[in-house]
Amino acid sequence: MIKDTILIMDFGSQYTQLIARRIRELKVFSVIEPCTVDINKIKKINPKGIILSGGPHSVYEKNAPSLNKEILELGIPILGICYGMQILVKNLKGKVIESKEREYGRAEMYIDDHNNLFYAMPAKIVSWMSHTDQVVKLPKGFIVLAHTVNTKYASIGDLDKNIYGVQFHPEVVHTDLGIQVLSNFLFKICDCFANWQLEDFISEQISEIRKKVGNKNVICGLSGGVDSSTAAVLLSKAIGKKLKCIFVNNGVLRKGEAQQVIKNFGNNSKIDFHYVDASKSFLSKLKGVVDPEQKRKIIGHEFIKVFDDEASKIKNVEFLVQGTLYPDVIESVSFFGGPTACIKSHHNVGGLPENMKLNLIEPFRQLFKDEVREIAKILEMPDYIINRHPFPGPGLAIRVIGEVIPSQLKILREADAILEKIIKKNGLYQDIWQSFCVLLPLKTVGVMGDKRTYEYVIAVRAVSSIDGMTADWSKIPFLVLNEISNSIINKVRGVNRVVLDISSKPPATIEWE
Ligand code: XMP
Repeated sequence: MIKDTILIMDFGSQYTQLIARRIRELKVFSVIEPCTVDINKIKKINPKGIILSGGPHSVYEKNAPSLNKEILELGIPILGICYGMQILVKNLKGKVIESKEREYGRAEMYIDDHNNLFYAMPAKIVSWMSHTDQVVKLPKGFIVLAHTVNTKYASIGDLDKNIYGVQFHPEVVHTDLGIQVLSNFLFKICDCFANWQLEDFISEQISEIRKKVGNKNVICGLSGGVDSSTAAVLLSKAIGKKLKCIFVNNGVLRKGEAQQVIKNFGNNSKIDFHYVDASKSFLSKLKGVVDPEQKRKIIGHEFIKVFDDEASKIKNVEFLVQGTLYPDVIESVSFFGGPTACIKSHHNVGGLPENMKLNLIEPFRQLFKDEVREIAKILEMPDYIINRHPFPGPGLAIRVIGEVIPSQLKILREADAILEKIIKKNGLYQDIWQSFCVLLPLKTVGVMGDKRTYEYVIAVRAVSSIDGMTADWSKIPFLVLNEISNSIINKVRGVNRVVLDISSKPPATIEWE
């Protein structure tokens, strides 16, 4: 069956992938290409509609990304979002100026035209704005579709040419009925069929992987988490035992974790499973290192090195599979490569050595966590893997703040295991995105059995989130917090204080390092 495709041209917005995701939620296939994509490639993709993303630039800025005019002549419906709308207006000889007031956040928006983008929508909605530049003169043929008090042209359109623009962000959840705006674009304006689903993504990936891999072998970095486990199951469906799963014990895993992974995968006759205990070399490389970014880089390098070594023992290996997700990618690189975009170098995308001998296969590079969980369900994987909280590649190394000292790791492991047990026992595990302990490298005074103690502080971090990109601290009931604190202090030698992290992301991040 031919699938309708929406092309998203990326002008550097943090939300580009979110647009793609929303389109997929509406069951239409979407692809993202850089804004410099060649016109012939667009013709080959043959999209039913084109969305121009937002971006951090001003249209008149030197080096601001431009729009290839030929795109406007293809006769394909276009929706420009924020910068995407401004670049359309500039190209079509309207006027964009730098506004004195930055409009940021929620704005009440009044809808002036209910026939097209805003079909079946109320007269007023809340929209999410984030812009400084403003359209002040419409190009010929355009009319106003919506306005706010500050923004006369919150949405515009040339109804004959099917070219539309929105100054707000319909893709973010803060815009009321934003999904309805996208849905109107897809189904009323582009005439798309809603016939794309994750099952198709799986079969497309399987055939692509088979084609790419040929008769070579592939090694998979299995961590036991949902991403790499799902990647392994997907790959094993595609290429059977040409997939070689390698599980590296990096010395910064949680209590009992290595044994659990060996039990789950080592005993599966369909999976070629290799266990490498490299904990000593990881820990010795981390010795004396305090800086979080350096710790992450060391672990990333060491991880790839171990893989390279292992690959050289297996014949005919040409590829490495990783369960990299989109949030890992977006927070590590930006389309324009700006330095401000790098928040943390996630170990599965950062720090790859230049001479790495393996090519990467990252089937979930464009997906969010909940989509991978959905795939895991379709692949009939067990619930305890599907619902497992995310665990970062650099493991406990970024949860022992400062230098990773083995005795502190031991304390952290014990505390973390207690926390997990209590969270599960109280039925909170499913509702929490992630809960874990952090060991602070400072000692405080306490009193136990009439004796002075001078021991470490454990911080409890628990957050709710949809995709890890933003998060709020979980409101764990006081009685449960009480149980957590009492159990950790009573049972874990070396801890005399437990504190709770009550920061949201942003401005904090989920992990402490
Ligand atoms: P932050 O701390 O950036 O975390 O708010 C967002 C999510 O990503 C996880 N995380 C990682 N996952 N490799 C991973 O595979 C990494 O290097 C890494 N760093 C953070 C983190 O646990 C949270 O779920």
